[in-house]
Amino acid sequence: MKKVIATAVLGLAVAVSGAFAADGEAIFKSKGCASCHQANVDTVGPSLKKIAQAYKGKEADMIKFLKGEAPAIVDPAKFGIMKAQLNNIKGLSEEELKALAEFVLKH
Ligand code: HEC
Repeated sequence: MKKVIATAVLGLAVAVSGAFAADGEAIFKSKGCASCHQANVDTVGPSLKKIAQAYKGKEADMIKFLKGEAPAIVDPAKFGIMKAQLNNIKGLSEEELKALAEFVLKH
Protein backbone atom coordinates (compact mmCIF):
# COMPACT_ATOMS: atom_id res chain seq x y z
CA MET A 1 0.00 0.00 0.00
CA LYS A 2 2.81 2.39 0.93
CA LYS A 3 4.43 1.76 -2.39
CA VAL A 4 1.22 2.54 -4.24
CA ILE A 5 0.87 5.86 -2.45
CA ALA A 6 4.50 6.78 -3.10
CA THR A 7 4.06 6.04 -6.79
CA ALA A 8 0.85 8.05 -6.91
CA VAL A 9 2.52 11.03 -5.21
CA LEU A 10 5.44 10.90 -7.59
CA GLY A 11 3.10 10.75 -10.55
CA LEU A 12 1.20 13.75 -9.28
CA ALA A 13 4.39 15.74 -8.73
CA VAL A 14 5.46 15.11 -12.32
CA ALA A 15 2.02 16.04 -13.63
CA VAL A 16 1.92 19.24 -11.57
CA SER A 17 5.38 20.46 -12.53
CA GLY A 18 4.49 19.80 -16.15
CA ALA A 19 1.26 21.75 -15.90
CA PHE A 20 2.97 24.74 -14.32
CA ALA A 21 5.95 24.93 -16.63
CA ALA A 22 5.38 28.48 -17.85
CA ASP A 23 5.02 29.03 -21.58
CA GLY A 24 6.80 32.27 -22.46
CA GLU A 25 5.25 32.59 -25.89
CA ALA A 26 1.73 32.12 -24.53
CA ILE A 27 2.37 34.77 -21.86
CA PHE A 28 3.82 37.13 -24.47
CA LYS A 29 0.68 36.82 -26.58
CA SER A 30 -1.86 36.85 -23.78
CA LYS A 31 -0.32 39.98 -22.23
CA GLY A 32 -0.56 41.91 -25.50
CA CYS A 33 3.21 42.24 -26.00
CA ALA A 34 2.86 41.04 -29.59
CA SER A 35 0.86 44.11 -30.57
CA CYS A 36 4.01 46.27 -30.31
CA HIS A 37 6.82 43.73 -30.72
CA GLN A 38 7.30 41.76 -33.94
CA ALA A 39 9.99 39.15 -34.38
CA ASN A 40 12.19 40.87 -36.94
CA VAL A 41 10.91 44.37 -37.67
CA ASP A 42 10.62 47.43 -35.46
CA THR A 43 7.03 48.62 -35.13
CA VAL A 44 5.81 50.59 -32.14
CA GLY A 45 8.42 48.77 -30.11
CA PRO A 46 11.81 47.38 -31.12
CA SER A 47 11.86 43.94 -32.75
CA LEU A 48 12.40 40.92 -30.54
CA LYS A 49 15.59 40.28 -32.44
CA LYS A 50 16.95 43.70 -31.50
CA ILE A 51 15.96 43.21 -27.86
CA ALA A 52 17.51 39.74 -27.83
CA GLN A 53 20.78 41.16 -29.17
CA ALA A 54 20.89 43.87 -26.52
CA TYR A 55 20.20 41.34 -23.77
CA LYS A 56 22.38 38.52 -25.02
CA GLY A 57 23.72 36.68 -21.98
CA LYS A 58 21.83 39.07 -19.71
CA GLU A 59 18.59 37.24 -19.00
CA ALA A 60 18.69 38.31 -15.35
CA ASP A 61 18.86 41.96 -16.42
CA MET A 62 15.82 41.55 -18.64
CA ILE A 63 13.87 40.02 -15.78
CA LYS A 64 14.85 43.03 -13.66
CA PHE A 65 13.71 45.37 -16.42
CA LEU A 66 10.37 43.55 -16.63
CA LYS A 67 9.96 43.99 -12.89
CA GLY A 68 10.64 47.71 -13.23
CA GLU A 69 13.92 47.38 -11.34
CA ALA A 70 16.37 48.14 -14.15
CA PRO A 71 16.54 50.91 -16.77
CA ALA A 72 15.78 50.47 -20.49
CA ILE A 73 18.86 49.81 -22.61
CA VAL A 74 17.34 49.27 -26.07
CA ASP A 75 15.49 52.52 -26.76
CA PRO A 76 15.40 54.57 -23.55
CA ALA A 77 13.82 57.57 -25.32
CA LYS A 78 10.66 55.51 -25.86
CA PHE A 79 10.60 53.89 -22.45
CA GLY A 80 7.48 55.91 -21.57
CA ILE A 81 5.47 53.68 -23.94
CA MET A 82 6.94 50.47 -22.55
CA LYS A 83 6.71 51.56 -18.92
CA ALA A 84 2.91 51.41 -18.96
CA GLN A 85 3.12 47.79 -20.14
CA LEU A 86 5.04 46.71 -17.08
CA ASN A 87 1.82 47.05 -15.07
CA ASN A 88 0.32 44.24 -17.16
CA ILE A 89 2.90 41.76 -15.95
CA LYS A 90 3.13 42.82 -12.31
CA GLY A 91 1.34 39.70 -11.13
CA LEU A 92 3.61 37.22 -12.90
CA SER A 93 5.65 34.75 -10.89
CA GLU A 94 9.43 34.55 -11.06
CA GLU A 95 9.08 31.44 -13.21
CA GLU A 96 6.69 33.13 -15.63
CA LEU A 97 8.98 36.16 -15.99
CA LYS A 98 11.89 33.82 -16.68
CA ALA A 99 9.88 32.02 -19.38
CA LEU A 100 8.92 35.36 -20.89
CA ALA A 101 12.54 36.55 -20.98
CA GLU A 102 13.66 33.22 -22.45
CA PHE A 103 11.07 33.53 -25.21
CA VAL A 104 12.30 37.02 -26.14
CA LEU A 105 15.95 35.91 -26.01
CA LYS A 106 15.27 33.05 -28.43
CA HIS A 107 14.98 35.59 -31.29
C1 HEC B 1 2.24 49.79 -26.53
C2 HEC B 1 3.39 49.13 -27.15
C3 HEC B 1 4.14 48.10 -26.34
C4 HEC B 1 3.65 46.96 -25.74
C5 HEC B 1 2.20 46.47 -25.70
C6 HEC B 1 4.80 46.28 -25.17
N1 HEC B 1 5.95 46.98 -25.42
FE1 HEC B 1 7.84 46.40 -24.90
N2 HEC B 1 8.57 48.13 -25.69
C7 HEC B 1 7.81 49.12 -26.34
C8 HEC B 1 8.67 50.21 -26.71
C9 HEC B 1 8.25 51.49 -27.44
C10 HEC B 1 9.97 49.86 -26.29
C11 HEC B 1 11.24 50.70 -26.45
C12 HEC B 1 11.52 51.45 -25.17
C13 HEC B 1 12.42 50.69 -24.24
O1 HEC B 1 13.50 50.27 -24.67
O2 HEC B 1 12.03 50.50 -23.07
C14 HEC B 1 9.87 48.53 -25.66
C15 HEC B 1 10.93 47.82 -25.11
C16 HEC B 1 10.85 46.55 -24.57
C17 HEC B 1 11.98 45.81 -24.06
C18 HEC B 1 13.43 46.29 -24.05
C19 HEC B 1 13.68 47.06 -22.77
C20 HEC B 1 14.97 47.83 -22.75
O3 HEC B 1 15.89 47.47 -21.97
O4 HEC B 1 15.10 48.82 -23.48
C21 HEC B 1 11.50 44.62 -23.60
C22 HEC B 1 12.30 43.49 -22.95
C23 HEC B 1 10.08 44.62 -23.82
N3 HEC B 1 9.72 45.82 -24.42
C24 HEC B 1 9.23 43.59 -23.49
C25 HEC B 1 7.84 43.67 -23.58
C26 HEC B 1 6.96 42.66 -23.04
C27 HEC B 1 7.39 41.38 -22.36
C28 HEC B 1 5.69 43.10 -23.28
C29 HEC B 1 4.38 42.46 -22.86
C30 HEC B 1 4.17 42.41 -21.43
C31 HEC B 1 5.79 44.37 -23.99
N4 HEC B 1 7.11 44.68 -24.15
C32 HEC B 1 4.71 45.10 -24.44
C33 HEC B 1 6.46 49.07 -26.59
C34 HEC B 1 5.60 48.10 -26.14
